[in-house]
Amino acid sequence: METNPPPTNPPSPPPPEGKSDKALRQLLASGHPLLYVMSADELRAGRLLRHAAANFLGKPVPFWSWSLTEGLRTEDGTRTDTPSTDPRAALDFIAEQPSPALFQLKDFHEPLRDAADVRRRLRDLFVLCAERGQVIVVTAPVRQIPEELESNLLYTELTVPDFVEMKAFLLERAAAITAAGAWVDNRDTSLDLIIRAMLGLTLDEASFALRRAVATHGRLARECLPALLEEKRLRVNRSGTIEFIGDGQEIERIGGLEVMKKWLLERRALFHPRDDVGAELVPKGVLVMGVSGCGKSLSIKAIASSFELPLYRINMAEIFSGRHGTPEWAFARACRTMEEIAPAVVWFDEIEMSIASIESSGEQGRIFAHFLTWMQEKPRGVFVAATANRIDLLPAEMIRKGRFDEVFFVDLPHDAERIEIFQIHLERRGADPAKFDLNRLVALTRGWTGAEVEQCVVSAITRARIEDRELKFDDLMRTAARIVPLSKTMKEQVDHIRNWARDRAAPASLSA
Ligand SMILES: Nc1ncnc2c1ncn2[C@@H]1O[C@H](COP(=O)(O)OP(=O)(O)OP(=O)(O)O)[C@@H](O)[C@H]1O
Ligand SMILES: [Mg+2]
Repeated sequence: METNPPPTNPPSPPPPEGKSDKALRQLLASGHPLLYVMSADELRAGRLLRHAAANFLGKPVPFWSWSLTEGLRTEDGTRTDTPSTDPRAALDFIAEQPSPALFQLKDFHEPLRDAADVRRRLRDLFVLCAERGQVIVVTAPVRQIPEELESNLLYTELTVPDFVEMKAFLLERAAAITAAGAWVDNRDTSLDLIIRAMLGLTLDEASFALRRAVATHGRLARECLPALLEEKRLRVNRSGTIEFIGDGQEIERIGGLEVMKKWLLERRALFHPRDDVGAELVPKGVLVMGVSGCGKSLSIKAIASSFELPLYRINMAEIFSGRHGTPEWAFARACRTMEEIAPAVVWFDEIEMSIASIESSGEQGRIFAHFLTWMQEKPRGVFVAATANRIDLLPAEMIRKGRFDEVFFVDLPHDAERIEIFQIHLERRGADPAKFDLNRLVALTRGWTGAEVEQCVVSAITRARIEDRELKFDDLMRTAARIVPLSKTMKEQVDHIRNWARDRAAPASLSA
């Protein structure tokens, strides 16, 4: 029976090209007639292939897609008259087509696995399709290629959409949202933030996230960012090795550490990807080391807030647990996920733990080597923030200039810094620091960490609350007198860290 040739697509104007489009274009340019594309995002695979049919094969060619439930369809939904829900019949139909076309076979890994005649038929088509300029693309959520087809099927995996692709998708959705009567903040800066919040999601997930955000806020604007980031948090947490850290900290909430704060604020403008900033100028990352409780974690959270980027922590304990494949594989996978989700700040906490016993374990050594290479080669949207306490365990390669933009040492806060930390924590808990002569606490709190200052404030306020009265200066003094700081209880260790770091890292604080 005759079928009408499906209509061809008009060529689209040349917009900026996304990473996946480019990869597909290059694959198709090789003239290979059989491809296998692994992706769980079927909606997206279809979009990319449709675009490829219209643009990447010399001239626009018809696009057909096949699925077990719907058979072969053209782009406008026209079906063939052949009983093509049968995989074998679908291949026979393709064999009868005389002219160039692109065929997507959805989930075709299953018929290929189950039926020898389907496998054989596909191999027959290899030469036929190559001669006629036809391309068959199997799309599947898993990589499952029968052995005898390994050499015929060119395999590729779709990474998640990049900025360019996500932008095209968002603009399409924004038009639909506007058409449905909701307001869309169309300013470039807002759209950019929304796109960045969605990077790392599949188009299916992004589409769901947008629907949810618009349903909650009644419009698409900056206030939707938390809802979009929440979607990303859910996705990332599924990985088991990466955690989304939601409790952002303002840089103003950090007492002291003026040198580091200034450094960060200066770099903030450079971080946002702009074409006029050379790649070597874009900050790669910082290593923050120092005494426990002096604000390392706090600083990392402040970096993310100050760069307006989401913060993710790589959980090294999970990576080494073996629950997510071999540690090496899990680590590489986590790094890749971070690249997909970029721009972001990636936090490696207690990094020395992951590399502590390089000599004793080959695996850790390989992970460390991978980390160093990755630091060098990672794309510009990923800012690495590493923190370490036992800095003497860090190998020299790690600290060497060029890996990180800067290695900061966070020391015990000096007098003026401790006062500032007192002020911050009193204010945070609703007490007015101006009421107290905090200078009188200086001598009593020498050698304290920021965490100990915070603990003093919390205990004093708790005491006052229990007695149902306002906080008095005396509460602070009395609590302070009782606290024995880490720098006393663990004097050797703290001294060791301080002496070791002093010559090897930039002080995060102005000198006292
Ligand atoms: N410079 C500071 N300014 C304000 N608060 C501080 C400062 N340093 C420490 N703190 C308080 O102490 C708490 C603990 O600090 P943080 O978790 O950042 O320490 P850390 O250096 O990461 O310690 P660890 O090595 O134990 O992880 C913070 O949540 C914060 O409330
Ligand atoms: Mg910490």
